[in-house]
Amino acid sequence: MAFSIRTRLTFWYGTLLTVSLLALGTAFSYSLFRIFIDRIDEQVTSVANMMVHTVIRPSGELLLPKDFDIILGRFFGVRTEGNYIQVFDPHGVVIAKSSTLEDRTLPLTVKAYKLALAGETSFDNVRGVFRYPVRVLTRPIVFKEQGLVAIVQVGTSLEALDDIFHSFAYIFVLGIAASVVIASALGWFLARKALKPVSDLTVLARRITAENLNERLNVAVPNDEIGRLAATINEMIARLEGSFMQIKQFTADASHELKTPLTILKGEMEMALRSKDDAQYMAGVVASSLEEIDRMSYIVRNLLDLARMDVEGKAASKEMVGLDRVVAERFEHFRRFAMESRVELVILKNTPVTVYGDSVRLGQLVYNLIDNAIKYTPAGGRVEVSLDEEGAQAVLKISDSGIGISAEDLPYIFDRFYRVDKARTSGLGGAGLGLSICKEITSAHGGAIEAASPAGKGTVFTVRLPRA
Ligand SMILES: Nc1ncnc2c1ncn2[C@@H]1O[C@H](COP(=O)(O)OP(=O)(O)OP(=O)(O)O)[C@@H](O)[C@H]1O
Ligand SMILES: [Mg+2]
Repeated sequence: MAFSIRTRLTFWYGTLLTVSLLALGTAFSYSLFRIFIDRIDEQVTSVANMMVHTVIRPSGELLLPKDFDIILGRFFGVRTEGNYIQVFDPHGVVIAKSSTLEDRTLPLTVKAYKLALAGETSFDNVRGVFRYPVRVLTRPIVFKEQGLVAIVQVGTSLEALDDIFHSFAYIFVLGIAASVVIASALGWFLARKALKPVSDLTVLARRITAENLNERLNVAVPNDEIGRLAATINEMIARLEGSFMQIKQFTADASHELKTPLTILKGEMEMALRSKDDAQYMAGVVASSLEEIDRMSYIVRNLLDLARMDVEGKAASKEMVGLDRVVAERFEHFRRFAMESRVELVILKNTPVTVYGDSVRLGQLVYNLIDNAIKYTPAGGRVEVSLDEEGAQAVLKISDSGIGISAEDLPYIFDRFYRVDKARTSGLGGAGLGLSICKEITSAHGGAIEAASPAGKGTVFTVRLPRA
């Protein structure tokens, strides 16, 4: 099951708090307990020391007092109850005890007895004999000649300690429970407060669709984590908006470009229908219609190319391509066209260089660039082609002495359907797809294309492709 961040935050917060409070409480009570026990041990040790000196004669003979209560009284004050003394013979049989024990006896555990036989003192917490646990010291009395003469036990009730720890534990558990509940409630509230901007963001983001991509997410604090998230989402929406606009523009442009020749075609056909007896006129109409059809199929072909490249991306078929051969082929192709246009077409350099790519597309790239250069260079001008290598790159330059491109138009010439001469008054130019195709081809090959047009000096297109 997936819990909300708020629930998880509160849960972890509560758990951590509980664990740390428990650890703190345990450490605290343990130290307190140790301090108490150490003091009690000191007390019973002094009583035991005293006993050892009282119950033994210099000869090593035992001299048991009738009343241990005097000894107890000396150490524990008037209130001797809860404090006990007991003496065993070396075999572990009780031979004397304080009246405070009444008819009960303190047990001599096997472990304590063994230690006593070895001459060592030990401490035990005895439970079950009295209402409260009793701290019992077991100490052997050893005399030089006789060896073990007796075993003395001094006990004191842990009633006070037990009481203290019981109430302490009670307060402690209640305290922890209360603080955890209060802190968790507070945490739950704080988590909601902290996560509020996130839910606000969700509501806002949900409202944004393709129809209102111009809207942006507003956040109160722009520089915190949420603010930065919102800014990132806003940037993403802006990019989406850009792409959406591009697609819309593209569709509009494409329809427009196809509609123009269709309208012309329709007009011509209607005219032809009306003057169907004039054979010469008819022939003229058919020829002009064919031109429009050519133009339409040219646009459709280019559109298809673009669409295909959008889909293919970098996955187009790739092989080793001699770029110099592609350039030479295209150059040959344009030789006549350049001559007809009275434009001088020259190859300055054609360095053999291979790139890894699609030879048909690369041919298209060179074709479009030379085509433009000749098209946009008036008679008497010059077009220069050069292919060279620069480090890991193949560099193709196509420069012309033509009409150039103004600085305002330069940033847009690679956009689909963008033409400098929109009205096509000069009779030059096509659909405005050639350069956008070039751009797609270069980027599919991991390269870059740029244009420069120093005022009055024509245009230079530079294509950089990674060498194979
Ligand atoms: N060498 C150049 N000199 C001057 N202007 C150019 C040159 N190359 C491109 N342009 C300008 O950039 C525009 C876009 O070029 P692009 O090749 O994309 O389209 P096009 O040549 O008009 O049509 P298409 O290539 O689709 O037949 C052109 O219309 C033209 O105005
Ligand atoms: Mg072109």
